[in-house]
Amino acid sequence: MKFDVLTLFPELFNIVMRESIIGRAQENGIIKVNAINIRDYSKDKHKKVDDYPFGGGTGMVMTCQPVIDAYNDITKDMTVKPKVIYMSPQGRVLNQKIAKELSTEEHLILLCGHYEGIDERIIEEIVDEEISIGDYVLTGGELPAMVLIDCVSRLVQGVLASENSYSEESHFNGLLEYPQYTRPADYNGKKVPDILLSGHHANIEKWRTQQSIERTKQKRPDMYEVYERTHKKNL
Ligand SMILES: C[S@@+](CC[C@H](N)C(=O)[O-])C[C@H]1O[C@@H](n2cnc3c(N)ncnc32)[C@H](O)[C@@H]1O
Repeated sequence: MKFDVLTLFPELFNIVMRESIIGRAQENGIIKVNAINIRDYSKDKHKKVDDYPFGGGTGMVMTCQPVIDAYNDITKDMTVKPKVIYMSPQGRVLNQKIAKELSTEEHLILLCGHYEGIDERIIEEIVDEEISIGDYVLTGGELPAMVLIDCVSRLVQGVLASENSYSEESHFNGLLEYPQYTRPADYNGKKVPDILLSGHHANIEKWRTQQSIERTKQKRPDMYEVYERTHKKNL
């Protein structure tokens, strides 16, 4: 899967997306993150990419020309245009379901705004969808784009060791994950639950499911309410 990212700060992606699991997935050719510097496309003699907002107000707005020229350049030889997502606090709020949906795409273009945001005509011209990472405002779209790349990539086949790595995790089936423990079995008198040392896989499974339900009820009553409604018969 390929992510082309239109940004004013490509070096951020070159640092963060080269580490750990996503870095390995890139080395193995499963994922490609290609950060494109919007500023390189500016026709302004000082490589300006922003200007004052019409109507007044604080801050600067990213201009149409460099962003749209960058988009046209990277898509010029493509027969099928990839979906363009503008990372925006005004978008659909990212969750595991949306991540799963996006993981089926072969190619995405992510547009990162900065300053006060981008000229509305860019959205009209090239953006298919706006996605937010939460109801708060960040200084730029780079962190949101990295969050999206990370959570979408780990659902792409081959990025994690097996599908179980994510299908049992929080949010995959509308529940939070059960508690996890590792060695030692006794840490300063705090013991791992006996059931996990029993070697009885069926009982461990049952315990984990109960724990998942219980902690969802405690930590995320909103999620539990939905789970309870959809699984009423089995509870
Ligand atoms: C300071 S914000 C602009 C906010 C804009 N003036 C507004 O009120 O909707 C600058 C950029 O950060 C990114 N951004 C900020 N918060 C975000 C969020 N919660 N999710 C995704 N992107 C966000 C967007 O790309 C945005 O263009």
